[in-house]
Amino acid sequence: MNYLESETFEVIPTQTLKYEHRPRVLILYGSLRDRSFSRLAAEESGRILEKMGAEVKFFNPDGLPIYDGSRSAEHAKVLELRELIIWSEAQVWSSPELHGNMSGLMKTQVDWMPLSVGAIRPTQGKTLAVMQVSGGSQSFNAVNNMRLLGRWMRMLTIPNQSSIAKAYQEFHEDGTMKDTSFRDRIVDVMEELMRFTYLTREQGEFLVDRYSERRKNNK
Ligand SMILES: Cc1cc2nc3c(=O)[nH]c(=O)nc-3n(C[C@H](O)[C@H](O)[C@H](O)COP(=O)(O)O)c2cc1C
Repeated sequence: MNYLESETFEVIPTQTLKYEHRPRVLILYGSLRDRSFSRLAAEESGRILEKMGAEVKFFNPDGLPIYDGSRSAEHAKVLELRELIIWSEAQVWSSPELHGNMSGLMKTQVDWMPLSVGAIRPTQGKTLAVMQVSGGSQSFNAVNNMRLLGRWMRMLTIPNQSSIAKAYQEFHEDGTMKDTSFRDRIVDVMEELMRFTYLTREQGEFLVDRYSERRKNNK
């Protein structure tokens, strides 16, 4: 399937931009199944984002320990995840809905995200798009709860989102996504993520500057 080749996207704002590098997008997914539809949706998003001009990296959560405070804080997978989080300017989280919620694996990845590393806040002010796949009819439990987590990580979660119902019907054998309104929605979401990232990444310091923290630092 290479309909991507014929697609064109307009994601760069018209005003003058300070940063010239490609938006850095980290994609996380919440399932280790061999044919995981949340991972396939994440990979489709990655291809679309690259076509839109982003630099895309994935984190493979296979082997990531369950959050246990300092015990596994130096584990290679934890360090890899933290490095990618610091590198990223935007993120996509793609989880299956399991028992009306995101998967434990998705939550574990967020549990390992540090709110601060010294003076750096690795997630604060970065943009986030949330996506879910379901086996049943369309539902929004996982994306709603990921929005809540995005707030906790002080991220700018974009308004649009993707929820793929009966995900097992939506992908070709080769793992690419069928040309349906579910895929159109993913393109919309990625377009919005790129636009928000272009507009906000240059204003990071202004956007995350807080009265209460200024006050504490001046004491
Ligand atoms: C334990 C379990 C719980 C599930 N709960 C839900 C659910 O609450 N709602 C739903 O629509 N699908 C549910 N499903 C179906 C999954 O969302 C679906 O199989 C999905 O494709 C799994 O994600 P993956 O393909 O990325 O592994 C559940 C599946 C399992 C195994």
